[in-house]
Amino acid sequence: DAVNILDGAPTQVWRYAGNLLKGPANTLTALPGSYLGPLMRFAKGQKIRIRLRNDLPEPTIAHWHGLHVPMEADGHPKAAIDPGQTYVYEFEMRNRAGFYLYHPHTHEATATQVYHGLAGGIVVEDEEERALGLPSGEYEIPIVLQDRSFDDNNQLAYWGGMHRDMFGFYGERILVNGRPDYGLDVASRAYRFRVLNASNARIYKLRWDDGTPLTVIGVDGGLLERPQTRPYAMLSPGERLDLWVDFSGRKTGSKLVMRSGAFDGLTPPMAQRMGGGRLLVGDDYPLFSVTVARETNDSPKLPEKLSTLRHYRRADVANPDNPRPIALSMGHMQLAINGRAYGHDEVMDIERIPVDTVQLFEIFHDHGGGGMGGGMGMMGTMDMAHPIHLHGEQFEILERRYSGDDPGSYATFQEGLIDSGLKDTVLVAPGERVLIAKPFNDFKGRFMYHCHNLEHEDMGMMREFSVE
Ligand code: C2O
Ligand code: CU
Ligand code: CU
Repeated sequence: DAVNILDGAPTQVWRYAGNLLKGPANTLTALPGSYLGPLMRFAKGQKIRIRLRNDLPEPTIAHWHGLHVPMEADGHPKAAIDPGQTYVYEFEMRNRAGFYLYHPHTHEATATQVYHGLAGGIVVEDEEERALGLPSGEYEIPIVLQDRSFDDNNQLAYWGGMHRDMFGFYGERILVNGRPDYGLDVASRAYRFRVLNASNARIYKLRWDDGTPLTVIGVDGGLLERPQTRPYAMLSPGERLDLWVDFSGRKTGSKLVMRSGAFDGLTPPMAQRMGGGRLLVGDDYPLFSVTVARETNDSPKLPEKLSTLRHYRRADVANPDNPRPIALSMGHMQLAINGRAYGHDEVMDIERIPVDTVQLFEIFHDHGGGGMGGGMGMMGTMDMAHPIHLHGEQFEILERRYSGDDPGSYATFQEGLIDSGLKDTVLVAPGERVLIAKPFNDFKGRFMYHCHNLEHEDMGMMREFSVE
């Protein structure tokens, strides 16, 4: 498809076209002017059937990121379909209310397929959330963040070669909901911004330019128990943030800019210089702007209590004293989890997990055995942060510890790590150890876990669980 993103020539993209039916039964909404797939809206408990027809010139398969579905509906890379074929997904919505996403999970082609446009958002609603009366309709805004580069002809450029494969792709332009220079007109009242980082590799540090703190009401797996106020919030690829944004009392014409703030220590110095010279990874740059276009006194109040979550204690997990390791390592063109890269065509020494258990995992940077956390000679240190995503049910972060040797850099993003609530993706910075408790209920089969830096995923920084 060709879409008008920049002035001049239209841009060729790939897209989830969607079948936008009319009427109350329709759950798909097109984002205006965007190449993104339609926003899907489901209710908890709903039975869902989705037909994926592959009109691309190469194999593909779609994955519902963050949803608790059977293996056949999870978009395993081995389920990829050839051009012209159709795959039918059937599942019941077991997730609580939240903002999820869908994107391809094609073996060694996830990054390029997402880059060329294949991604979309999923909103799930439930009773608990509805009872809160949060801002909805025109006051609930999806914000899908992506970075892209364009060539002289306005075509998507996926440049970077070996450095791109190693550190991930960093583009020169920020797109919000598929649009450049995104601006939003609002009324002077409370809004709900549902922010998703659908970039291949770029990590954002969300902050308002006038210093207004962020009010976080939810993360990957839905609402927090209570709102949290932070000076800024980190958002790595695959993660979501549900923000309560209140423009009450602001005058018509006043303008706010959401920026990505400066940080250090998440990417190697070498990757820090990527981004086409315009949007250096750890620099401060604008993401989108909001202008108050209408004044009103009619605004909902932020609830003090948002939801009730169950919490896992050590005693609830099957392996309280020996967490399963998820050891992340980066060597020369060699990314690995627990010492090896994903084997698509071989049966790997797979992680076996008994169904209907809760498992403790420890995710950390592995600097021994071929890992490359220390010096890399002329390339400097190669260690970088990895957003680690586990398929299936949402997990709980029990603990995050930093024992690195650069607390100065760590302090540039530490306060923005939101570890409460339910998560499916967690950013693990160099020097950190993160302990998570994850349930494996209901479904047996093979489920992926991987780095959500999509270039890393395609380089094999992925493994699978066999739930038996
Ligand atoms: Cu969002 Cu396995 O991916
Ligand atoms: Cu996923
Ligand atoms: Cu990674």
